[in-house]
Amino acid sequence: TTTWFKTIPAAAVEQDGVARAQAGGQRVALYAVEGEYFATSDVCTHGQAFLSDGYLDGHLIECPLHQGLFDVRTGAAAGAPCTVPVRSFPVKIEDGVLYVQIE
Ligand code: FES
Repeated sequence: TTTWFKTIPAAAVEQDGVARAQAGGQRVALYAVEGEYFATSDVCTHGQAFLSDGYLDGHLIECPLHQGLFDVRTGAAAGAPCTVPVRSFPVKIEDGVLYVQIE
């Protein structure tokens, strides 16, 4: 089954920026790119770092620890040293609040 978890107001995510939230007992990173919202797990698959502490450039989030890259649309690893994708989650907005769907 899948569940939508309420997170934070869309306005709390800076445009072309990243914010963190809790959803379903896990940390998620929320991204705003050109008015669209995306969500991934907040934890880098390469080491112990939070992507929400990283730097968003277009659709790519740069990990703050070793500057690996992920595509926030899919979670795909997009730059060394990252090779394992991060989980990505569907996002919807209701009444200005972001919901993240986690299985
Ligand atoms: Fe993220 Fe190494 S911990 S790139």
